Order: sequence, then C-alpha cells, then structure tokens
Amino acid sequence: MHYSVLLQESLLGLSINADGFYVDGTFGRGGHSAEVLKLLSDQGHLMAFDKDADAIAFGREKFSDDKRLSLQHASFADMKSVLAEHNMLGKVDGILLDLGVSSPQLDVADRGFSFLRDGPLDMRMDNSSGQTVAQWLAIAERWEIKKVLHVYGEEKFAALIAKKIVERRDEHPFITTLDLADFIEAIIPKKVQMQSKKHAATRSFQALRIHINKELEDLENLLADVVEMLKPGGRLVVISFHSLEDRIVKHFIRDQERGPILPRNIPIIELKRDEHVKSVGKKKAIKASIDELDENIRSRSAVMRVAEKVAATT
Ligand SMILES: C[S@@+](CC[C@H](N)C(=O)[O-])C[C@H]1O[C@@H](n2cnc3c(N)ncnc32)[C@H](O)[C@@H]1O
Repeated sequence: MHYSVLLQESLLGLSINADGFYVDGTFGRGGHSAEVLKLLSDQGHLMAFDKDADAIAFGREKFSDDKRLSLQHASFADMKSVLAEHNMLGKVDGILLDLGVSSPQLDVADRGFSFLRDGPLDMRMDNSSGQTVAQWLAIAERWEIKKVLHVYGEEKFAALIAKKIVERRDEHPFITTLDLADFIEAIIPKKVQMQSKKHAATRSFQALRIHINKELEDLENLLADVVEMLKPGGRLVVISFHSLEDRIVKHFIRDQERGPILPRNIPIIELKRDEHVKSVGKKKAIKASIDELDENIRSRSAVMRVAEKVAATT
C-alpha cells in the first residue's frame, strides 16, 4: 500500500491557487500530485518530476486523461532548466518535495533497495544510468565506504564494515541485497543488535542509497535555484525523512531569511533586500499527527518545512 505522508499539511503549506502553476519534484505514485490536481481549475497546471522511470510510466497511465499534468523523467535537481525550456522561471506558485524512497521502490526486490528481499544490489532510483551499489562497492576505496556509512548512516561500525567489505570483495563480490545484509549482520556484535529494533543493515542500506542517488547533492542543487523558480508569494514545501536532509533545508531557509552577512562598522542607511525566501507559519518544523502515526509508521521520521518567496525591495 502506498501512503502519502503529511498530505493535508503539505497541501495547506502550498496554499493552492486554483489557476496556479505547481511542481511536484517527487511524483512517486502521485499521491500528493492527485490531491494538488483536485484543487486546480482547468487553467491550473502541475509539472511533476521523478528520477524513476517506473513512477513516470505509472503516472502516464493513471493520469493519461488529465491535460493539466505534465510528467518529466528527470531529477528535481534539473528543475530550473526544464522550467526555463517552458518559459516558467520565476512563475511557479509552489514546489513540493517529498524526499526519499517510495513504497514500490522498497517492495520490488529487483530494484535492490531492500535488505529483506533478495534482489540485485542496485538501489538506483534512476536505473537507466549511473553506478549500482554493487558496482560502487567493487571499486570504492575503503575510506570512501567508511565515510559513506558513517556520515549518511551514522553507522558506528562503519570502519569495520568497510574493512571487511574490501577484504572480501575480490574473491567474492557483493552482488545481491541479502548477501550484503547478512554480511553486515554477521559483523555487528549481537549485543548491539539486541539493543535495537532495527535490522543490523538498516543504517548501511540507507547510507548506500543516499550516496548512490546523490540525494543530498540533488537537494542542495534544487534549493540553490528555488528563489529564481518561484514567483513572489510562491511556496516551497519540503518533507524530509533524514536529519541531514532536514538540516540542509532548515539552514537554507535560515540563511535566506538572514540575508547577506554585512561587515560590521559600515553605516547602513537603508537595508535593501534581494528576492529571497522566508519561513511560513509559527511552527517551523511540522510533524505527522498522532492519527497519521497510527496509520503509517514511516511518518514517524517525517519533518516538513514551508517557505515563501519574498520579492526584492527597491
Ligand atoms: C517518497 S516518494 C514520493 C511519494 C509521492 N509524494 C506520493 O505521494 O506518491 C519519493 C519519490 O521521489 C523520487 N525522487 C527521489 N529523489 C529524486 C530526485 N532527485 N529527482 C526526482 N525524483 C526523485 C523517488 O524516485 C520516489 O519516487
């Protein structure tokens, strides 16, 4: 079952204008997109992106009759150039990002995201290009593997796992998900595993997924273009599932609100501001309601932030 996280909250955050132009950067199975479309008139438009060809194929089939939706098989990191091609830069009413993996990506063993289902060790959201996890683990330096597991997975045993992977891979390469999951499980001390409810490979799989899909780089690239893409009053809504993602979004909004850091001791007669975004609402980090948590455990780690573009002062 596919469940759209913080659905009502994100629609409120977008503050939908029925005739507006909206962008869903992470279409998935179109849960959020479908609700946005319900709120749009015939004049409104929704452009949706997904790196995953299966998501786009699903959307083309399910929404084939809806001319208000255009689907792009591309990373949201490339949103600015796609919008420029459509002459929509600076004209967007709202951008939504619901980051991370979709349920179908986790559920289909062949995609190689799951440590519970045996499949090829792939984990690419866009499996039409780039390196799979299997290919990366075959050639990465030990320090690189350690860094990825440590930084993106906060894996305490990153150094040991990286060492063991490098020791084994030439003789017996890592090709399948369950092989890697079992290998990691055998490395982490049983005592440590008993203290956690999660599978021993959870952190490593998450880290490898973030790395192989350049998830944080894509987010940073998107944020760097947000002000240029939105119209004044346009909204940015981001739902994150990882503290590193949320930190990037939080710092971006904070830095935008703050504006350029000016040298001290320079008399400022009038402070003019370039266009920028500012946080919306009293509550800066919005979490799932108790009702939603009852229905969907994945919502537990979701954090939503909303920002609005402010025009330049002249
Ligand atoms: C959590 S799901 C989105 C679910 C969607 N909101 C729904 O309700 O059906 C995240 C989706 O974003 C896609 N995705 C992740 N990073 C992306 C990126 N940089 N560019 C485009 N799509 C991305 C994934 O392939 C996945 O389909």
